[in-house]
Amino acid sequence: MKKRLVLAAFLITITGLGAQPSQAARDSINRLTAADHEQMKSQLGIAIPNRPGPSGNPQGENAANRDESKVNKYILPDPLKMNNGDRVVTEKDWWEKRRPEIVEYFDREIYGRLPAGIPAVKWEVVSARDTLIGAHPIREKILRGVVDNATYPEITVEIELLVATPAGAKNAVPVVMEFGFIRSPWGNNAVTPIGLGSSTEPTWKEQLISRGWGYAVIVPSSIQADNGAGLRQGIIGLVNKGQPRKPDDWGSLRAWAWGASRAIDYFETDANVDAKRIAIEGLSRYGKATVVAMAYEPRFSLAFIGSSGAGGTKILRRVFGEQVENLASTGEYHWFCGNFIKYASTLTPDDLPVDAHELVALCAPRPVFISSGSPQVEGQWVDAKGMFLSGVHAGPVYRLLGKNDLGVTDFPILGTPLVGGEIAFRQHAGGHSTGPNWSTWIAWACRYWGDCKYN
Ligand code: GCU
Repeated sequence: MKKRLVLAAFLITITGLGAQPSQAARDSINRLTAADHEQMKSQLGIAIPNRPGPSGNPQGENAANRDESKVNKYILPDPLKMNNGDRVVTEKDWWEKRRPEIVEYFDREIYGRLPAGIPAVKWEVVSARDTLIGAHPIREKILRGVVDNATYPEITVEIELLVATPAGAKNAVPVVMEFGFIRSPWGNNAVTPIGLGSSTEPTWKEQLISRGWGYAVIVPSSIQADNGAGLRQGIIGLVNKGQPRKPDDWGSLRAWAWGASRAIDYFETDANVDAKRIAIEGLSRYGKATVVAMAYEPRFSLAFIGSSGAGGTKILRRVFGEQVENLASTGEYHWFCGNFIKYASTLTPDDLPVDAHELVALCAPRPVFISSGSPQVEGQWVDAKGMFLSGVHAGPVYRLLGKNDLGVTDFPILGTPLVGGEIAFRQHAGGHSTGPNWSTWIAWACRYWGDCKYN
């Protein structure tokens, strides 16, 4: 399975850069990335090498743990215990005291802060047409969000967004927005690589449109590149005027989430879209971006967090599957702020002031659906149980806010939909995809959005 994940990650990475780059271009990206990682470590005063992460190849030496009996003992920070030791017992204290403490930790140590003075985005319609998705008529628009670069014209950022709504809808409809691709990175009519779409369900787009809902796709690489070499470009580079990041500056995940918020700004002006019913969805690294977007943007109504793994909803302290050491390596550190590198060198994951359950708690009281594939097909790198546990341990915050938690604390058998509350979970029987969970997600979302053929 790791092979498939690696293939997917590789294709995502290279296609995020446009056409497939040559070996020379890849070498240059790797060199610039390594140099940026190194300069960040010297800003942090870290002279020792990072600890290497385990291997995603189950047959490899130093394979990541896949044995539940070998999971370490760890103590999770209590989301309802304030830094001064007091317990949070009122909603007011959650919103005014404890939640800001948790946000500060995620900002400073994991995902980075949004800088002051991010320039404005102006949305333009690039093209609009009436077309079909499956048998269903739709209105499809492609938009470009042009970021004002007057302060540093050397860098241009144009966010790519597609939005499609049912042609028959007279009123504004709910929309699910995916972090993804507008043009298939595998070419027109290409077959999706194994593991990415292993579902016999109709496509997510057809399922949404046939219900009377819309879909949108936002392209992360149009906001910020998916590698360390790109950190002096994109929206992060534009705000920093082409200079390297400071240790608590935002990483790509927050930049992608920021772009998703700008898309909501646009939806608020589009008469076909009900901006009060927007969901965010994504898989893998884009699943990580999904939970970050949901945590930081209160205008998202629902989330569908696909196989987000480590750096998403997986408990970071849990030694199973991918580890902090992998995330902080040159291949992935750009998703986070520079400070995160400390936890794979001078500090350990147990020193993190927060863990993934508190990221889920930041989404409360809004409903979140945590999705995973099966160990047999997807593999164990994403750590389905580790993702389930963040849902379990976010429960006290949802309950404090008058909402329902997962309803169970034992990991369910494959396929069981835990969809009775505002924290939902399902491990489907397919691979590294949200595909086989769409119909379950939609049935759950109807509770909040209504059945809605055009209302
Ligand atoms: C790698 C990486 C994961 C990530 C995945 C992807 O497998 O280790 O953290 O989610 O790529 O985004 O494809």
